[in-house]
This record gives sequence, structure tokens and C-alpha cells, in this order.
Amino acid sequence: MKLGFIGTGALTAAIVTGLKSAADNSVTVLLSPRNQEIAASLALRYRDVRVAPDNQAVLDSCDTVMLAVWPQIAHEVLTGLRFRRDHHVVSLIATLSREEIATLIAPVEHVTKALPMPMIAHRQGATIICPPDRRMAAFFGRLGKVIEVDDPSEFDALSVVTASFASYFKYLDTIHGWLKEHGVADAQARDYIVTIFKALANAPETTPDTGFMDLAQDYATRGGLNEQILRELTARNVFDAFAESLDGVHRRISAGAAPRIGPQS
Ligand SMILES: NC(=O)c1ccc[n+]([C@@H]2O[C@H](COP(=O)([O-])OP(=O)(O)OC[C@H]3O[C@@H](n4cnc5c(N)ncnc54)[C@H](OP(=O)(O)O)[C@@H]3O)[C@@H](O)[C@H]2O)c1
Repeated sequence: MKLGFIGTGALTAAIVTGLKSAADNSVTVLLSPRNQEIAASLALRYRDVRVAPDNQAVLDSCDTVMLAVWPQIAHEVLTGLRFRRDHHVVSLIATLSREEIATLIAPVEHVTKALPMPMIAHRQGATIICPPDRRMAAFFGRLGKVIEVDDPSEFDALSVVTASFASYFKYLDTIHGWLKEHGVADAQARDYIVTIFKALANAPETTPDTGFMDLAQDYATRGGLNEQILRELTARNVFDAFAESLDGVHRRISAGAAPRIGPQS
């Protein structure tokens, strides 16, 4: 595979870093020259990673091309380029549909949507792929888990999950702040939270047949402390409000209007 990237930003850097830290990392990579600093540092760091003089040179030298620019500029960037019918184009632009991308990159026939996340740099997390694609499943499978879906609406719904990351850290930060207010040293509080939540995150994987609510109930002993917090938050409609926010993000993604997915969302 000769792999090219149009757009060398945070996500491209994460994919190339994950790829080049894998045992079998012989894929040659050609990067578009923007962002210049990121492209140059990746080329300096890894063998078989080069920076092309321009976007067209990436297309001319590669068989597989990942699109990693923001949706707002995708039209301007892509319509000026000459794609070949035999290119395999993988769009990482979450909020543009496969049909919209296909129109911009005609005459390409093979278009796949993929949604990796920045933790791919550490070969962790999961990449959603639509429609299922053997080559891309094998590629991303070396960099973490792969979830393949046939239905674009399923892809959009799964994408909504990525909008909950910031709130997850806010949840941990609330506990951290509370501990500090109650006299626990900053580092010790953080260490405890990190360790205990890592163990909790492992629980669904170690008991794959157990539902999330069953896991909640395991801790929510009647009259116990976990039950108190779960009951109080439920009574204040915290979880309903959260589900409504997921609905709101889903509407934006489905309408192709979500400006940013990722750490800066
Ligand atoms: N970051 C995430 O977690 C994440 C997750 C899933 C999907 N995505 C999607 O991935 C795409 C890229 O996200 P990102 O976080 O990597 O963004 P980013 O860090 O802002 O990178 C985008 C890159 O595109 C470059 N660019 C601008 N104009 C260009 C042009 N005409 N030709 C080639 N490159 C150009 C920019 O270069 P300059 O810096 O020189 O302007 C920038 O380095 C977006 O569509 C986003 O929705 C991101």
C-alpha cells in the first residue's frame, strides 16, 4: 500500500505515529505539506514517511488516500485535485457523507468513511468504518479495534459517542476537585481516580455478557452509598439531560453541521 494524506494535522499525526510504532510498519506514507511543521517532524521521525511538494503529488504517487482536512474547506481543497478512478479514498471527515465526498472526488469508485480517534497514536481505541472494507479493517485493525457498519446512519449514531469524551473528563475533574477541597493532596487524588477508573473501564470487557446497568446495580446496593448518588442524579434528571444532549449532537452530525469532532470539539 502506498498511503497518502491530504491534510497533515492532529489526526494524521496520530495515525502515522500509531502505524510507525506497530511491529509491521512497512507502509510508505506520503504527506501533504500542510501543516508544514507537523509534516516535517513526522518525516524526520519515521523511515518511509515523506512530505510531498503539494496535494496533487500525494494523489499521483499513492493508491490509498486519506482525507484529513476540516469539512469547511473540503470542497475548496478537493475539487481542485485530479483523482484517479482506481484510488481508494478513505474520508476521515466525519461530518461529510460518503456521497458528498464521492461527488467531490469523481471519478473515484472506492470510497470508505473511517472515524479513528487520537488515541490511535498509542494503538488504542476503535475506528468505525462504513461500509465494511477488508483492506481498511486490516489496516486500522493493527492500530486498535475496528467496528464495521453497513448503514451510514449507524456510523453517524456511533460518532455521537465521541462527543461525550469532554464530559467524561469533567466527571473525573468534579471528583478530583471535591477530593482536593476535602484535604486530599492533588497528586494522590489524581492517582486514586486514574487507577480506580481504569479498573472500572476494564469491567465490561472482562464480563462481556453483563449489561452496563447490571454493572451499575452490582455497585448500587440498596441503601448504600452508590445507590444514593445514582438515585439523586437520576431524580435530578441528569441522565435524561445527558441523553438529550446526545440527541442534539446526533441532529448536528446527521445534518452535516457539526464543525469539529475530536479533542477540540
Ligand atoms: N482530531 C480528531 O480527534 C478527529 C477525530 C475524528 C475525525 N476528525 C476529522 O479529521 C479531519 C482533520 O482533523 P484534525 O484534528 O487532524 O485537524 P487539524 O489538526 O486542524 O488538521 C487539519 C490540517 O489540514 C491542513 N490544511 C489546511 N488547508 C489545507 C489544504 N489546502 N491542503 C492540505 N491540507 C490543508 C491544515 O494545515 P494548516 O495547519 O497549515 O492550516 C491542518 O494541519 C477533520 O475533518 C475532522 O473532522 C478529527
